[in-house]
Amino acid sequence: MPHRFHSSRRVFLRNAGCAFAAFQLKPPVKASVQRFQQSPALDPSTLAPFVDPLPLPKSAQPAGMRAPLGKPGEPIPHYRIPMREALIKIHRDVPPTRMWCFGDRFPGPTIETQSGRPVMIDWENGLPAHHFLPIDHTLEGAGASLPEVRTVVHLHGGRTPPASDGYPEKWIVPGQTQSCFYPSGQRAALLFYHDHAMGINRLNIYAGLQGFFIVREPRESALHLPAGPYEIPLMIADRLFTQDGQLFYPVSPDPGRPWVPEVFGNAILVNGKLLPYHEVEPRRYRLRLMNGSNGRFYRFGFSNRAPFHVIANDQGLLPAPVAARRLPLAPAERADIVVDFAPFAASNVRLVSDSFDILQFRVGNQGARQDGDLPSVLAEPDQEMSEAAAVRSRRLTLDERLDKVQQSMGMLLNNTHWSAPVTETPALNTAEIWELVNLTDDSHPIHLHLVRFKILDRRPFDTFEWMNRGALRYTAPAQPPEAFESGWKDTARADPGMVTRILVPFEGYAGRYVWHCHILEHEDNEMMRPYEILPPGKTPA
Ligand code: C2O
Ligand code: CU
Ligand code: CU
Repeated sequence: MPHRFHSSRRVFLRNAGCAFAAFQLKPPVKASVQRFQQSPALDPSTLAPFVDPLPLPKSAQPAGMRAPLGKPGEPIPHYRIPMREALIKIHRDVPPTRMWCFGDRFPGPTIETQSGRPVMIDWENGLPAHHFLPIDHTLEGAGASLPEVRTVVHLHGGRTPPASDGYPEKWIVPGQTQSCFYPSGQRAALLFYHDHAMGINRLNIYAGLQGFFIVREPRESALHLPAGPYEIPLMIADRLFTQDGQLFYPVSPDPGRPWVPEVFGNAILVNGKLLPYHEVEPRRYRLRLMNGSNGRFYRFGFSNRAPFHVIANDQGLLPAPVAARRLPLAPAERADIVVDFAPFAASNVRLVSDSFDILQFRVGNQGARQDGDLPSVLAEPDQEMSEAAAVRSRRLTLDERLDKVQQSMGMLLNNTHWSAPVTETPALNTAEIWELVNLTDDSHPIHLHLVRFKILDRRPFDTFEWMNRGALRYTAPAQPPEAFESGWKDTARADPGMVTRILVPFEGYAGRYVWHCHILEHEDNEMMRPYEILPPGKTPA
C-alpha cells in the first residue's frame, strides 16, 4: 500500500525546518494549517553521500533518415522515443524506483541538432493503463471519464509549428504515437522536452517524463567554450521518496480533491541521482544547469564559494560573461556557467544550493589543458530591440483564488479560466510588451511557448490599491533584470508585489499556443491560458 502523506499549502516548507525556508526564495510562510499525518519519507541525510557516479544522459540515435511528412525535400533525422515504465537506481543504497521515462532513463535521451536543421520525433506512449500518482479529477481537463494515462510532449523553448508544439488537450493514450516536426530555426540553446498533458502534467513530469534537447550552431562552437567531456548538462529536480525508494507525491486532506499547491522534495536529484560525484580535471568546465523541479527554486553556487561566469540563459548565449558566486534558477529556467577547477586541483568541490549539497566534483591534479580564455563577447549583438518596437502593451494579472466552499486554492492568469475564449492575440512578426502584475504572495516563473523575450524591468506596486481601486500605483523605481537574465529568455520570474515587464517579438508561426506558470501544480490548476498568434495583417475580432 502506498503511504498516505498529507500536505497543504507549503506545509513541506514549514515541516522541513528552516533550512528549507531559507532555501526557497520566497516571502515568509503563511499560516500553515496541516501537519504530516505520518512521515515515513526517505531522509537523504541518512544515506552515504557521493557514492554514485553522476549519470550523463545518453545521446539519442536517429532510427533513420526520412523526408518530413507532407514536406518534400531533404531527408532529415527521424527519432523514435518510447515512453515506458522503468526502474531507476537513484542511489546505491536505495531500492530501484519505479518511474515513467523516455527511453528507460531519467532524464531521457538527449537530442542534438544544429540551428536550422529539422528533426522528426515519434513520441511513442508505451506506458501502463493506470497512473501510479494521485490524479485530481476535479481539475480542468482531468475528468474521471478520461483515460488515466495521457501524454503529449512539448519541446520547451523550441520554435515549433503549432501542430507539433504539444497542445495540452491533444494528448494520446498508451499504444498511440505523437509525431512531431521540429524545424529548430533558432539560436543555439539548451532546451528540454517534457510531458504537457492537461490536468496531470505535474504527475507525469514528477514520474520522470523529461529530457534534454540541445541546439548548436557553428558560431557558438567557434568560441571554443569547454566542450565534449568538459560540457555537462545537469537536470536538477527534487522529489520525495518513501523509505523503500518509491516516488511519493503528496495529497491534500480531501480525498476527492488531492491536488496540492506546491511540492518540495527533500531529495535533490541531479541527472536522476541523489548526491552523486563526478571526476573532473583541474580546468574550466561548462555546466548547463536546468531546473527540472515541479516547484522548487534554487540558488546555485559552490561549497567553497568558487567564482564562476554565467555565459547563457534559457535561449542561449548572453551578450557577455557575467561573474557570479550565486545563481538563482526558477522551475524551467536554464543557465550555463563556466567554472574553473584549476585552483582546486586534488581537492573536492560541491555544487550546492544554499545549504543543500547537490553534486561533488572530485578535482584531479593533472592532465588538464585549458581551451583558451573565456571570450569577452558571446552573443552577436541583437538588432535594436527597444521598447519602441512594441505595437502594444497588455496588462495581465497573476491571481490566486480561494474557493470558499472547497477551501482550496487555485491560481489564474488574468482571472480567466483555461476554457474561456482566447484573449491574447498578437499578430505574427510584431512585438508586444506584456506587463505581468503579480497579485499573489508567490514568485511565478511565467513561460510563453514558441517565442523568446527580453525582461525589461520589475517594479514594485501597491497591491492594496490595485485590489481596492483597480489602479496601478508604483511604489519604487523600476529595476532592470539581473545581469544573468540579460539574454533571451523563455521563462521569467514574476516576483510578488511587482510588475514584471517583458518585451516579446512574436516570430515563427501563426497559430494556437499556450502561456503559463511553470510551477507545475499551478499550471495544472489553470494558471495556464491559450494564446493565438494571428497571421500578419489580420486584426483580432
Ligand atoms: Cu516547459 Cu508549457 O512548458
Ligand atoms: Cu514551452
Ligand atoms: Cu505559479
